[in-house]
Amino acid sequence: MKQKTMYTCQNCGAVSPKWIGKCPSCQQWNTYVEEIVTTTLKPTALASRLSSGNQPIQISEIQTSTVARIDTHNIEFNRVLGGGIVPGSVTLIGGEPGIGKSTLSIQIALNIPEKTLYVSGEESASQIKLRADRIKKTSNNCLVLCEVTVENIIPQIRETKPGLVIIDSIQTLRTESAESSPGTVTQIRECADILIRFAKENNVPIILIGHINKDGNIAGPKILEHMVDTVLQFEGDSSHVYRVLRGIKNRFGTTSEVGIFEMLTDGLREVNNPGELLIHQHDNNTSGVSVASAVEGLRPFVVEVQSLVSTAAYGVPQRSTTGFDTKRLNMLLAVIERRAGFRLNQKDVFLNIAGGIKINDPAMDLSVLCAVLSSDLDIPIDCTTCFAGEVGLTGEIRPVGRVEQRITEAEKIGFKRIIISQSHQKNVLNIRHTIDIVMVSKIEEVFRLLFVKRNR
Ligand code: TYD
Ligand code: MG
Repeated sequence: MKQKTMYTCQNCGAVSPKWIGKCPSCQQWNTYVEEIVTTTLKPTALASRLSSGNQPIQISEIQTSTVARIDTHNIEFNRVLGGGIVPGSVTLIGGEPGIGKSTLSIQIALNIPEKTLYVSGEESASQIKLRADRIKKTSNNCLVLCEVTVENIIPQIRETKPGLVIIDSIQTLRTESAESSPGTVTQIRECADILIRFAKENNVPIILIGHINKDGNIAGPKILEHMVDTVLQFEGDSSHVYRVLRGIKNRFGTTSEVGIFEMLTDGLREVNNPGELLIHQHDNNTSGVSVASAVEGLRPFVVEVQSLVSTAAYGVPQRSTTGFDTKRLNMLLAVIERRAGFRLNQKDVFLNIAGGIKINDPAMDLSVLCAVLSSDLDIPIDCTTCFAGEVGLTGEIRPVGRVEQRITEAEKIGFKRIIISQSHQKNVLNIRHTIDIVMVSKIEEVFRLLFVKRNR
């Protein structure tokens, strides 16, 4: 067997013994990448190779066995994984620096009854111990290894035979088989490849931690997404306490589940019932506050939307949001201007979702719109009312998914009235409820309902 260095065009696959700037066959620039090619099997050897290998099997005859998942003893984490860690699976947890990835993973390591090897390339053993002390948990089943070279990590895994390996983080690892420096795409891909192969061959589950930067540009981990089995994203605003663990890809379960945590001084607390937590106590005298009955993943929860509208102090009015898409807010402001006749173009508009949590649910629209109107008019919204509706460009209130669930949740938490789209008339007939359901079809109706009656 011989090894050769070749340059391959990543566009058309043309091969050259030397690097070329412009590919002579497809005319593309800068597409040649150095690759090591192992070739020259003798023709007879090749022929004998061709006869062996895997045989095709009838799909109906394939035996399946349900794999026993490893319970992480963390309800929220289990939920996102789809019921626990699958043996031999590789999970990537991505998130911005400081969001709590290391805290989450050490907490799992301390909680889980299986022996866990926590490999850290970022912190010293004493720093990890300090963190564990902070969480006030200890375990005789958690081993800590401070090491960055994959060639040294693999023998340690073989020797200690853990039931779970955690690598914090993939960006700090390096392998001798790649020349480039740690953190480069080649190193990350190479290290991950070795670990993933090891996990599959030895049936050891591995959790990889990867950093992403503010603009979501995951230079390293992005290339890993197709290599690993599960990709989870840990998100939230690091100046707030709530964190959401979201499934982005899951070969063994759904990606529509989310896990919710609260960052306390002694670690992450699981938020199993997110309902009441996201609402701050407010009374009937505060304008600019409204409550949305939202659904994130498969779970309903009730969140508070706060808005402040004030005259722009400096020339250009500002639009600033936390936890809500600024473009979406701009669209809602345009609807308010055109369909309800408000002048907001000379006003600053600030919008926060309480708790700093980011919710991708179109049903938030109606609540956002009402919070903005309430602040602009300085008329408070009754604190026992909540909202669930999408707002269209013509100012119509559109139906939203899982409306029954939203109504039930709002009722459970103690709301007296929920405002939804008129189009839900049929769905709502079938549910028994004590909450007052108000159905509207246009933003003018909502406006009259909430703000005009009081002025009479
Ligand atoms: P960390 O897990 O180090 O983040 P990452 O690994 O994603 O970079 O968490 C960092 C933040 O969490 C840090 O600002 C301190 C805070 N923290 C707490 O609030 N409570 C705790 O118990 C711990 C361990 C950390
Ligand atoms: Mg960390």
